[in-house]
Amino acid sequence: MGSLLSTDRSSASSSGPRANLSTRGARNAAEFADFARKMSLARNVYDERDNPTGIVILGVADNGLLRGQLLKFFNAQGNLDLNARELTYADRIFASQRLLVALCKLFNEVPDGVPPLTGQHHHTRLITALEPEHIIIGSGATGILDNASWALCDAGDGILLSVPAYNAFWNDFNTRSQVQIVEVPVSPADVPLDIAQHVQAYEKAYLDATKKGIDVRVLLLCNPHNPTGAIYPRELVIELAKFAAKHDLHLLSDEIYARSCFRTENVPNPPDFHSVLTMDLAREANLNPAKVHVVTSASKDFSINASAANGFRLGVFISQHNKEVRDAVSALAVVAQSSAPAGALWYHLLEDGDKFLHWFLTENRRRLSIAYAYVFDWAKHHSLPVAPSNAGHFLLIDFASRLASRSAKEEERMTAKLIKNGVFVAPGAQYHHPIPGWFRLTFSMEPHALKVGLSRIEQTLGLQTWIDAQPDLEFGEQETEKL
Ligand SMILES: Cc1ncc(COP(=O)(O)O)c(C=O)c1O
Repeated sequence: MGSLLSTDRSSASSSGPRANLSTRGARNAAEFADFARKMSLARNVYDERDNPTGIVILGVADNGLLRGQLLKFFNAQGNLDLNARELTYADRIFASQRLLVALCKLFNEVPDGVPPLTGQHHHTRLITALEPEHIIIGSGATGILDNASWALCDAGDGILLSVPAYNAFWNDFNTRSQVQIVEVPVSPADVPLDIAQHVQAYEKAYLDATKKGIDVRVLLLCNPHNPTGAIYPRELVIELAKFAAKHDLHLLSDEIYARSCFRTENVPNPPDFHSVLTMDLAREANLNPAKVHVVTSASKDFSINASAANGFRLGVFISQHNKEVRDAVSALAVVAQSSAPAGALWYHLLEDGDKFLHWFLTENRRRLSIAYAYVFDWAKHHSLPVAPSNAGHFLLIDFASRLASRSAKEEERMTAKLIKNGVFVAPGAQYHHPIPGWFRLTFSMEPHALKVGLSRIEQTLGLQTWIDAQPDLEFGEQETEKL
């Protein structure tokens, strides 16, 4: 803790006049410059009609596969019908009780995980039924992760996280809370997946961090996993829960892609997704239920575009057996309350179970699978290795054969070249991927933009032109839209 804070103080004071900022404000300001540079891509996004020379963003987890249908739903009469309650403070302050009730229905009744090959997709019951009191709403999963790290850790404390990992975790845990991520170099996509070795890697990272004086407080699980798109087998979650119990850690499970798991022949026998809320971790792992928390949001399983559900900024924190943690997270949720109109749009969607929600979730999984196969086949045609996956919006592709060498410098050079040619694919370095050359590519794009993006990659990597002659991504027959 000491070293982290003292370094920050010295860098703040050495950066010239203080401009009336606090030490921590100066630290954040200095770090934001790099973030702002990256964000500038968002101001020049490709659009077939309005900005055809813009950049096709294939490096952000965004789902445009049902954009039109969701817009139709949200714009339909009744769903935008705000009432007086949405124009005043919410009855639970950080959000409305109605949203919390709708979320309980989602968790208690609606299936998550991989759909079966045939037959009905069954719901797995939670060990303890979810109640509104268990839930706190914040500003996206981002805001919730910030709140949770503040509530669970002091500055300088550690959070164990397997890498590669979702890049913003570093930002979410560090910007305000100054919590350190303790990296564990394993992933659920490891082949073969050796559970004992996996846990050993956690033990080693934990011991190394402890020797450096870091107080490790939390094991953060990201399941289904970003950036690999892999699902943790149930046995591995249990072993990690046992590990958390042994070292008295909180188990914080980010399950933001729980309802974006799909079937693909590339992963013939996928492990199914199991939320920690459906596991009796007290019995199976000796983990105190007060130490188990879940994070999710409106952004991914309900997303249409950065301008819609990603942009709703509604994050969900669930802790069923720890009122103290809930109170601590609520305190911060109160100083950054969620938006009532966004909440109203989300509860209208969640309440419309039989008519729209089930159709949407089923069709979304079907389209994710088709879009995934489209990009998988493209990579296969060009002999680019792919890490097979079956969840989320993206997959990892190895571009190393098109780089002068497998090095961080070449990966960086290729990223810049791709952007210059009008397409952004996220380099593995962003996710602390241990092997340079891997890029994370989002497949859940609007079909034409996806094709243009792949074509620009072909040009940049010097691949034979192929995708231009292929049909656009098509979704075929679907069940009638239920609007
Ligand atoms: C694993 C994971 N957690 C959290 C987030 C942040 O989501 P939100 O838009 O709700 O802040 C993302 C977004 O990409 C993510 O992939």
